[in-house]
Parts: sequence; C-alpha cells; structure tokens
Amino acid sequence: MTSKALLAATALVAITLSLPATAAELTVGFSQIGSESGWRAAETSVSKSEATKRKVTLKIADAQQKQENQIKAIRSFIAQGVDAIFLAPVVSSGWDAVLKEAKEAKIPVVLLDRDIDPSGKELYLTAVTSDSVHEGAVAGEWLAKAVAGKACNVVELQGTVGASVATNRKKGFDGVVAKNANLKVVRSQTGDFTRAKGKEVMESFIKAEGGGKNICAVYAHNDDMMVGAIQAMKEAGLKPGKDILTVSIDAVPDIFKAIAAGEANATVELTPNMAGPALDAIMAFKAKGTVPPKWIQTESKLYTAADDPQKIYDSKKGLGY
Ligand code: AHR
Repeated sequence: MTSKALLAATALVAITLSLPATAAELTVGFSQIGSESGWRAAETSVSKSEATKRKVTLKIADAQQKQENQIKAIRSFIAQGVDAIFLAPVVSSGWDAVLKEAKEAKIPVVLLDRDIDPSGKELYLTAVTSDSVHEGAVAGEWLAKAVAGKACNVVELQGTVGASVATNRKKGFDGVVAKNANLKVVRSQTGDFTRAKGKEVMESFIKAEGGGKNICAVYAHNDDMMVGAIQAMKEAGLKPGKDILTVSIDAVPDIFKAIAAGEANATVELTPNMAGPALDAIMAFKAKGTVPPKWIQTESKLYTAADDPQKIYDSKKGLGY
C-alpha cells in the first residue's frame, strides 16, 4: 500500500470509529426480575420481539426474584461493555452503588415497569412505567361505584414487599377508601405477585372472615394473585364475581377468561410493551444525543364485563402471556 493509500485507510478507520452506533450494532443488557406472573412472562417475550424488530441485540438476565442477582447481572453487563442497561427493579431501594458504577462506565440505564427511590433519580436516563398510584385509584374508584355507597369490607392482596408498584398501588387504592366511608380494608397481606401465594393468602382471609361471609370485595395488586384468589373462593364454596367482587391490575388473558365466565369483575391494564419505548429512547440517545423525558408514562385503562372480555381474551392469548 502506498503511503497516500495508507493515510486514506487510516482516516476512514478513524471516521468509522467516531460515528455513533447504529441500531444494528447496539447491545442492551436487560436485568429482568423473573417470571412471577403472566404479565412478567409477556414483558420478557415482548421485549425480545421489540429488540428483534429494531435489530438490537438484547441480553436478558433472569434474577429469579432476587435483588442480589440483579446487581450481579448489572455488573456483568458493565464488564461486557453493553451500550445500555434496562432494569426492572424488584424493589425500590438499594440501587445507588451499582447504578453509580454504570454511570461511571458511561452506560445509560433505563428503568422498566418499576421505579427506584428518589435518591437514584440522577442515576438513570429515563423510566418507562405506568402511574401505579393512579392504577390503585382506578381500581378503588371502580369498586366505590360498583357498591354505590353500601358498606363493603375489602381484603387486599399486595404485591412484592418493597416494590414501587406494591407501595403505589396500595397508596392509590387507600386514597379512594379514605374518601368513601363505606369502604374498609379489613385485611391486607402480600401475595408476592404469584398465583400460588394469592390463593394461599386468600384461603387464610376466607377462614378469618367467617368463611368469606364478611368479605365484600378483593383488591389484588395483580391478576395472577386474583386468579389464585378466585380458585380459593371457589374451593370454599363461594361465587367469585358475585358473592365477592374482584378488581385487580395487569389485564392478562386469564382474567378476561374469568370476567367472561362471571368470576371476576374488573382489571386495570398494564402494557407489557415497556421495551419498545425504551429501545426508541436509547436509539435516539445513542444516535443523536436526544435526551428523553425522565418519565415515559404508559396508559392505565379499566376493563369490565362491558368490554367483550371473550374477544379480548382471544386477541391477547398467545401474545407471550
Ligand atoms: O411491575 C409490574 C408488576 O410486576 C405487574 O403488575 C406484576 O404482574 C408483575 O409481577
């Protein structure tokens, strides 16, 4: 190679190295919580297809519900030099140290579906989540309207202790209860967002509340716990959806099946597509330096028997749930 050609080749390499990464070159590490619910399974599956659509390489680490595993996964993504990290934080506290490490390594972090404590606000680029206080309020307002002023003892199945969505969904519902003297939360316990735990806790609520006679409604922080609770009610000889009203969150296919059968009453939808908006934000940030808004909010829509639940079930099943 002549010295002129060598110079030209060197210049080309230099230009290529300084260009921003194209989507095809992006690698994103996703620290996922686990597979505690149908919604979570759908989120994982939708994340894979949204990444494929955009030709992004997505590396998913399943933390099996443990924060320590999420922290290890983030450190491993930093060591691998990924272009961005997605984090669905199992609990809201304890992230500052590891997120500082990501910031020092200049790797942007995007939160998916759950929030972290305000102390960590500077440590992530954006959060794609719903307004989970609002979700609880939508559930509470539906119940207040459904019982129309009649006295109603509610039992509550909470999500994972320390998760932002559990704290906020409780707060939103409690806000409505505080404004409606006829509503009273008589029991409230975690069911850890799983069907098995939801069933187990509901069995104990039924026993403690006169075989279920003293319960007017169940509020569950997700549909999977409600599906477990419906099973517990049926096994106790109760008619869920009639003897005891139900309202929960997620809008997974199985709750529409229950609504269609008259065994559940209402659900608030949480989209499993958190990764799509997150990938768009990261791609624009990497390509043009566009800084996304700190919060990319997803919708929270209420569904009841009036919304053709069988049709929604048919359209949703098979979408990764
Ligand atoms: O963070 C979202 C919540 O996590 C979903 O509502 C629940 O099903 C999941 O486990």
